[in-house]
Amino acid sequence: MKDVIVACDFSSAKDVLDFLDKFAGCERKPFVKIGMELFYAAGPEIVREIKGRGHRIFLDLKLHDIPNTVRKTMKVLSSLDVDMTNVHAAGTVEMMKAALEGLTREDGTRPLLIAVTQLTSTSEERMREDLLIDRPIAEVISHYAANAKSAGLDGVVCSPLEASEVKSACGQDFMAVTPGIRFADAASDDQVRITTPLKARTMGSDFIVVGRPITAAEDPVAAYNRCVNEFIYGKDNC
Ligand code: C5P
Repeated sequence: MKDVIVACDFSSAKDVLDFLDKFAGCERKPFVKIGMELFYAAGPEIVREIKGRGHRIFLDLKLHDIPNTVRKTMKVLSSLDVDMTNVHAAGTVEMMKAALEGLTREDGTRPLLIAVTQLTSTSEERMREDLLIDRPIAEVISHYAANAKSAGLDGVVCSPLEASEVKSACGQDFMAVTPGIRFADAASDDQVRITTPLKARTMGSDFIVVGRPITAAEDPVAAYNRCVNEFIYGKDNC
């Protein structure tokens, strides 16, 4: 089922809770992404607090370390009862398998686990010049996605522009979680491989991750509803 995930990139518990208070009267409780900034500032307690308010949570810590460290860290994170978390696919298949093992609780349940392919701020040119990866970005992303699938993960984080390629490489059920979302009439900030919520829908994204277009909007609830209308219901707001 498609949903809009709001990237709550705030640096304190107060800021994020004040922000979420704006949605108190809304019918739909936003799926919340807690990333490094907020987690390092406010710790596991903010995860429990937001979960306690009834939001689903994507804990976006993008783990990338040796397999043993990732396994043990995921074991700790699995006790936080989040709905989704992630690793970098660049950490190798062995690391992704270790992550899955660590995340799986004794009763067999676990949050969804997805892998970052290439950050949506990375262009093909930067990949080639900074990372010395010469292959076309689409090929790299499909390959990383196939690695994630073979490790048993549920999907990948990628640009909506790559979602259909990921699906053809890994199957329709393999999830594409896509940041790099901007409204048709807005600035791109530091994102490079971007598209609108409506286009992300037609391109096959399962979840869109939207930060500044909602958090920095004059009316965040209206911006969130615009994303929901475009992405979930396919309505063109423009
Ligand atoms: O503000 P904006 O909409 O650009 O926020 C996008 C969010 O998605 C950020 O929290 C960023 O860390 C995250 N993200 C991303 N690209 C990825 C993975 C995660 O932009 N490949």
